[in-house]
Order: sequence, then structure tokens, then C-alpha cells
Amino acid sequence: MLWGTLSGGIAAPIYSAGSRLAIDRAAAVTGFIEKRAMHVFIAGATGAIGRYLTTMLRAAGHRVTGTTRTETGLRLLQGMGARGVRLDVYNAEAAKRAVAEAAPDAIIHQLTALKGGTREDNGRIRRIGTRHLVDAAKLAAVPRIITQSVAWAYGPGERPATERDTLHYEALPPRATLISGIRALENISSEIEEHIILRYGLLYGPGTWYRRGGLVDDVLNDRAHDPAALFLGDLSAANDAVSSFVHVEEAARAAADALTWPSGPVNIVDDEPAPARAWLPALAVSVGAPPPRIVSGRNAWERGADNSLARSLGWKPHYPTWRTGFFLG
Ligand SMILES: NC(=O)c1ccc[n+]([C@@H]2O[C@H](COP(=O)([O-])OP(=O)(O)OC[C@H]3O[C@@H](n4cnc5c(N)ncnc54)[C@H](OP(=O)(O)O)[C@@H]3O)[C@@H](O)[C@H]2O)c1
Repeated sequence: MLWGTLSGGIAAPIYSAGSRLAIDRAAAVTGFIEKRAMHVFIAGATGAIGRYLTTMLRAAGHRVTGTTRTETGLRLLQGMGARGVRLDVYNAEAAKRAVAEAAPDAIIHQLTALKGGTREDNGRIRRIGTRHLVDAAKLAAVPRIITQSVAWAYGPGERPATERDTLHYEALPPRATLISGIRALENISSEIEEHIILRYGLLYGPGTWYRRGGLVDDVLNDRAHDPAALFLGDLSAANDAVSSFVHVEEAARAAADALTWPSGPVNIVDDEPAPARAWLPALAVSVGAPPPRIVSGRNAWERGADNSLARSLGWKPHYPTWRTGFFLG
């Protein structure tokens, strides 16, 4: 897919008039697609995952209503063939109205508040934003919610975490802020009967921080002034801390696939959880940065995650490892 930049600096998939028409035609054909077509409400449709997801769902013949707080976002959504609706999720009544008016078959919750660069903001949208969205879903009798969570909230362990492992409830600050936000996000989402919690690895690829020209490029090349850099952790040295990555397009595909998955948490990560001493030097090469110092040590919770469950549900990453993905994505 080609990507361009709209005024306001938002990267968006580029469509020719022909391909847009093709999407509309796909939505209109009778038979197979029409039987499976759903109306999907994406909260956070303009975000890194939301943009890919909107495009994918439209191409698969689904109707999409997507939220944004901005005019630029509305134009972006319109360009992707979605119905845009202006919503600040902290306005509970507006959330109820937006969901009730759409009356969707499913809600996909891709809201985050990462651009401001504070853990508290992101925790707030997980707790309060999710509360408002789920209340709105209940009122409109929406049967299914698919929610964006993370794959690095598990408790300590020696092997990559599976969904049977517990979250890190006893974590100390500042990690405790992440864990309480994730716990609220997942518990509140679980109030909807059909709820799929997608525990994503670290996103890389177009529109994310981990790409050439992204935040990681600035940090590794020593030119970061963005407060969001705090979310990347210390990249000056590579140690034994294990992380799991996932390409943003695969992350979006998982959300689309989850429209038919059974309830519960699912790790959405690639096939190769790896220590920083392996992935950070590769990332540095991919953005033309100097190699990091190699040191030892890790926190016991830095263990990565296992994707067996997602694979058993039919999700199969086309970028199975960051090792090649950093250079292709
Ligand atoms: N698992 C991961 O590693 C992970 C996951 C997500 C993001 N990220 C990183 O975070 C960076 C930023 O990602 P992003 O653009 O998706 O995140 P973002 O700026 O946090 O926004 C995500 C979505 O949430 C919406 N939103 C935020 N606050 C809202 C509010 N109060 N009410 C309603 N909607 C609200 C935004 O809509 P509008 O701004 O259009 O209103 C946008 O659609 C990316 O570069 C990515 O690398 C990483």
C-alpha cells in the first residue's frame, strides 16, 4: 500500500478513485461478502492501527464508522471510505449518542493517549475512556467489543508469557500505572458479553514510533525532543530484557480477524520474542544509528509473549520476525 501525508501531517493510505470504487463495489456485491458484512464502530480510527484497520475493513466489504476529535481526522476517514464521527471520549453523553446513532454490530476500541507523552494520560483514557465506551455499548446493546491492550503487562517469568499467565498486579510505580490502566481497560471491556482483548507487542512499521523517520530514529540518532520518548525506555544500551514486536499492519489484521474470535485475551506478537541485545542493534542499523552498548540484566517481567493462541485462531503474521520486518516495514 502507498502512504501519503494529509494537511496536518497525518499519514494516510493513498487511494486512486478506481480503488475506492473497487472498495464500494466489494461492499455492494451480493452473496458471500454481503452475508458476512458487518457495521464496525472504530473508536480511535485515525491512530496508527486504526488507519490500517479502517482500510482493511472497508476492503473486506464492512461498513465502518470511525471516531476522531478533529476536522483533519474526518477528512482522513472520508478518504478511506468510512463514516467519520467527531467524538471526545471523555464526553460520556456524546459517546452514548455516537454509538447509539451508529448501532454497530461491533466496537473496536483503539483509543490511546500517547502523543502527549505521559503515562497518566494514557492510563486515564484506558480507565475513563473505556468506561464511557462500554457504557455506550451496553446502552445500544452492542454485542461485541475488541480492545487494544498490551503484551508487556504480564508478571515475572522466564519464558514468553501466554494468556494463562497473570498480569503484574504487584508491580511498583511507575510500572504500577501501566498495570492499573491495563487492568481497568480489560476488566471494563469484559463487561460486554463478547469481548476480545488484543494484547499487542511493540508496534513497528508505517505510522509508528519504530521506523525510519519515527521517534526511535530520533532517539537513537540523538535528536529527540518529543516527550513521548519516555515510552521507549532507555535505548542507550542493549541488555537481556526480552520484548515482543508486531508489525502495525498485522496488528490491524488481528483486530479485523477478531470480529469472529471467541472471547478472551489473545497475544498479538510476532514469532520471535528477543532480548534487546539482539533486536536493538538491528533496529539501530535499520535507522542508520550507531550501535548501542551491550550490557547484561533485565527485569523479571521483561519476558516477551507467545503467539500460539493467535496462530491457533488462524492469525498468521506475514512479518514473522522483527529481524526482517524492521528493514521491510
Ligand atoms: N502496542 C504498541 O506498541 C502501541 C500501541 C499504540 C500506539 N503505539 C505508538 O504510539 C504512537 C501514537 O499512536 P497513535 O496515533 O495510534 O496514538 P494516539 O495519538 O494516542 O491516538 C490514538 C487514537 O485515539 C484517538 N484519541 C485520543 N484521545 C482521544 C479522546 N480523548 N477522545 C477520542 N479519541 C481520542 C485519536 O483520535 P484523534 O487524534 O483523531 O482524535 C486516535 O485515533 C504510534 O506511533 C505507535 O508507535 C504503540
